[in-house]
Amino acid sequence: MPGASTSAALNRAVHRYRAAPFGARLFVHGRAFLSDLAFVERFVPRKGFIVDLGCGHGLFACLLREGAESRRVLGIDLDERKIEVARGAVRDTQWLRFEVGDIIKDQPPHCDAVTVVDVLYLLPFEDQERVLKNAAAALGEGMPLIVKAQERRTDPRYAITYAQELITVGLGFTRGGHERFYFPSRDEALAMFERAGFVVEVEEMPRRPYTDVVYLARKAPLKPSPAA
Ligand SMILES: C[S@@+](CC[C@H](N)C(=O)[O-])C[C@H]1O[C@@H](n2cnc3c(N)ncnc32)[C@H](O)[C@@H]1O
Repeated sequence: MPGASTSAALNRAVHRYRAAPFGARLFVHGRAFLSDLAFVERFVPRKGFIVDLGCGHGLFACLLREGAESRRVLGIDLDERKIEVARGAVRDTQWLRFEVGDIIKDQPPHCDAVTVVDVLYLLPFEDQERVLKNAAAALGEGMPLIVKAQERRTDPRYAITYAQELITVGLGFTRGGHERFYFPSRDEALAMFERAGFVVEVEEMPRRPYTDVVYLARKAPLKPSPAA
């Protein structure tokens, strides 16, 4: 369970959207209520430059800022409307900013940690791997990549996970861009992280009706090239 200070940080993050359009406010409140972002926040370094890929309206980026004042945060998303809403929630411009960008095509800037929350399932597996490789290129050896995602499993919670995403994409809250979703199995996900250059552990998210997990990845040391 998140501690009182993390819950307070989430409340402060949500409060930043009080002047946002009604639909965006509704979505942000929904994310805060349904997504247990506070559970993920605790794995993110408490200082340094953090890049949140696929930041949406920016709630998680705002939570990172509210949770620790030594974090500098950049959120990137493809959706210009969401970035506009996210920018409306910024009041600490030196420490938090948002940019429109494509996390498949573009490498993020060099940083101390990368986060990716509830994004990868929208992308075909080869694009998911590209995002992870882009993150690896932005990180120094041993630096963390924290990914919240959902796994494909034989589990009633997987049906709930899939159904909820059909609804959010159907209602237009999330732009899918593809005909279907791409939830990897545990083994497929671990293999993808390894190919992208990470060592990874998996943290199950407790008390969730979905197959939510947090992948705690660290950039692996470069393998020495074979002697010529
Ligand atoms: C379900 S939302 C999650 C948003 C946010 N991370 C959160 O936790 O609230 C997925 C986001 O991924 C973004 N996205 C999908 N493909 C993208 C791409 N190629 N580049 C950047 N963002 C992308 C979508 O625009 C959407 O905002």
